[in-house]
Amino acid sequence: MLRTASMFVILIVVVGFVTIVYGIAFRSERIVQPIAFNHVVHLDGAGMQCIECHMDAETGVSAGLPGKRICYDCHDIDDEANTHPEKDKLFAFDEQDMDIPWQRVAITRPDVYFSHRRHVTSGKLECTECHRDQPTLLTPPSTARLVMPMDACIQCHKKSGVSSDCLACHR
Ligand code: HEC
Ligand code: HEC
Ligand code: HEC
Ligand code: HEC
Ligand code: HEC
Repeated sequence: MLRTASMFVILIVVVGFVTIVYGIAFRSERIVQPIAFNHVVHLDGAGMQCIECHMDAETGVSAGLPGKRICYDCHDIDDEANTHPEKDKLFAFDEQDMDIPWQRVAITRPDVYFSHRRHVTSGKLECTECHRDQPTLLTPPSTARLVMPMDACIQCHKKSGVSSDCLACHR
């Protein structure tokens, strides 16, 4: 009986130790955005288009993130101060001489070349073809996420008759 009990204690200690070491080694860095931005209220509620905030997606390699001026088109400190904690964070940037320091979460590998203009303007693809769950996000993701695995890029390239040469993407 005593033997079983001490075996059990040893097991718990070992499992606990492995869990902690694994957690330290493999946890991804947590990302906290300066404002807990809500995609759902702006798309479904305010009826906005992706391109109104990610303004470089049709013309640039990167899609870009919105500056505070875009937000102040609709949100007004005089009417809305102290009505919502996240809006107050937005208004706090008004007095500062800096823009909102949004952080990158949607990524690919560093050696992979990806151009938004090429896909959105030349390829005529919808944003949600690749960013499927973005319109459903009530809060920002808390870790960086690979937008899509290599297989998904290649599958569409084959279907569309676009190059699947390694060096087309790995530059
Ligand atoms: C064919 C797939 C695809 C389409 C279509 C696409 N994206 Fe992306 N998007 C990606 C990939 C891949 C990345 C990561 C790129 C990187 O790390 O350089 C990304 C990154 C982003 C980012 C973060 C980095 C940046 O570029 O500023 C934003 C914002 C973004 N996309 C918005 C959009 C919007 C808005 C549209 C539609 C107008 C769109 N995307 C269309 C695949 C796509
Ligand atoms: C076209 C108008 C429009 C623009 C531009 C706009 N918003 Fe909003 N926003 C709304 C509407 C509508 C709501 C939902 C009603 C409300 O809470 O005022 C909302 C809600 C919010 C909320 C409360 C969210 C919640 O979860 O209830 C925050 C925070 C916010 N917006 C921040 C921003 C930020 C940051 C920007 C700029 C990147 C921005 N908004 C740009 C119209 C807009
Ligand atoms: C009212 C402005 C607004 C609209 C409209 C909007 N976004 Fe965003 N988007 C943001 C903000 C602010 C962030 C940064 C905070 C976050 O992650 O939520 C962001 C983040 C993102 C990211 C991650 C960016 C990165 O740097 O890693 C992607 C991808 C993205 N949006 C895609 C879309 C797509 C696709 C649509 C349309 C379906 C869309 N967004 C509509 C404001 C907007
Ligand atoms: C849903 C379909 C689709 C997906 C997914 C997709 N692409 Fe593409 N891609 C295209 C199309 C269509 C073109 C050609 C656009 C044009 O007409 O210029 C293209 C062109 C390219 C080019 C230029 C090719 C050349 O020969 O110059 C590169 C590089 C590229 N894509 C990289 C990527 C990467 C990296 C990913 C994944 C992260 C990806 N694509 C995902 C459809 C897609
Ligand atoms: C259409 C774009 C595209 C083409 C073509 C492509 N790759 Fe990739 N590759 C990617 C993307 C995006 C990633 C990062 C996502 C991932 O790891 O799945 C990647 C990741 C990789 C990785 C790292 C995988 C890992 O698990 O760490 C290797 C190795 C690789 N590619 C080799 C190749 C080789 C070899 C070819 C040619 C036979 C090739 N790729 C063609 C887009 C492409």
